[in-house]
This record gives sequence, structure tokens and C-alpha cells, in this order.
Amino acid sequence: MTPIAVGIDVGGTGIKAALVDTSTGELASTRIRIATPDGGEPDAVAAVCKDLLDQLKPPSDARVGVCLPAVVTHGITRSAANISNNWIDFGAEDLLTAALNRKVHVLNDADAAGVAEMTYGAGRNARGVTILATLGTGIGSALFVDKALVPNTEFGHLDIGEYIDIESYASYGAFQRDQISLEQWGKRLEKFFAHLEKLFSPDLFIVGGGASKSHEEFFPFIKVKTQLVPAETKNAAGIIGAATMAVQYL
Ligand code: BGC
Repeated sequence: MTPIAVGIDVGGTGIKAALVDTSTGELASTRIRIATPDGGEPDAVAAVCKDLLDQLKPPSDARVGVCLPAVVTHGITRSAANISNNWIDFGAEDLLTAALNRKVHVLNDADAAGVAEMTYGAGRNARGVTILATLGTGIGSALFVDKALVPNTEFGHLDIGEYIDIESYASYGAFQRDQISLEQWGKRLEKFFAHLEKLFSPDLFIVGGGASKSHEEFFPFIKVKTQLVPAETKNAAGIIGAATMAVQYL
């Protein structure tokens, strides 16, 4: 079987895709992007995925991994963040397998980013408990025990202290919305990571998402005991992890 797989990362504003060499974690094509159709309805998203696949021209036996901002159990999407509510309790894997006429594996976007980091990035030598958090419009999370993924953790929706749904207080989206300083944002993130520390006594935190590019500017304000490092696969993490899981799972 070819080690080349297709990774597709569905987000609220854009759907990004590339070919991935899963033997190295390197992209095997340029990254292409099409805007998410208004409303993010399943059929419209599937049509965009087909368009991206046609443009990438993968080998005929290449598998496809698709990650979404949703809880996914056994191919069924169980929630929907910034995409249509019609994804809730919806057979996403069946729809995409039919639309793309390929073997397709569907998973949560932060879980995909976590798999990329644990396989090729900042967590590749990790042992014990690792938590990855993606800082974007929301907060995504991925939990690993000795590199095994515990899927769909959704730590961004924890209620912490007076803050209901911690992502609405500590995400990059909240930082932009509230126009706070990087120090103030760091202190908000500290509440999040300190709470996870209390729950899980992790060995490592990995911070991904667009904001992790400028980690030097806010990491110093997050005072936690656990080692905290930036993600290495940056904004292709979802694509790389989805492709990797498609090869491992199908
Ligand atoms: C969603 C998660 C997703 C995260 C990042 C959250 O709002 O609930 O499923 O992983 O955003 O996109």
C-alpha cells in the first residue's frame, strides 16, 4: 500500500488539504484550500472535499483522512463547532466515503493535530501523559497515554471556576475579541493548563493552533509545573494527522 495519503482539515472558514507521505510526515504536495461553503452543510462540505481530492490527484489506492471540529465516534459526528448542526449524530464517514469513492477515516481536528505531533513533532519522544491544546477560534484538545490517543476529550468545553466553557474565555478568539494584552491572555491560559494539571498530572503540554507561532510572546506568562512546548507541525498538523490516522485505521 502506498504511504501517500490525503489529509483534509475542515474548519469553519476554510477546508485545507494536501498529500502526505505518512512514512515521514512530510507534505507530498502543496497545501490547497477552498473556503468553507456558507453554513458548512454536510453535502456542500463533501463536494468541496471531492474538488480538493480531484486537484491533488492522489495514487489510486491512497486513503483519505478527514478531520472536523466535532466529536467523532465510529464515523459518526456527534457535535459541530462552526459548521452546520446537521453534522450532529450524522454518518460523516459514510457520506464522505461515498462522495470521494475512497476509504475515508473521519476524526476530530484536535485529535488529528495531536496524532501529527506525537508521531512526527514535539511529542515524538514523549512517554506517559501528554495533552495537546490547539488555540484558535475555540480550544481543541487531544490526550495521549504513552502515545495512545484517548479521543474526543473536548477540554475546551470544561467549566473552570466562574468560567463556563473555558474556550470562550481563554481561546485565541477570546484574546482577539476582548483586546487584552498577551500577559492577560497568558494568565487566562494558565487557569486552563493549571486545571488540566490538577486533573491529569501530565508529563507534557503541547500547544498548537495558529497562535503557537508566536509562543515566545505569551508562554512566559503561563506559569505551570508541567513542561509546555509549541507544536512543531504548525498549521498542517490537522492534515498530517488525518492522513496518518487514515493509514493506521483503515
Ligand atoms: C470543538 C472541538 C474542536 C475545537 C477546535 C471546539 O469548539 O468543540 O471539537 O476540536 O473547537 O476546532
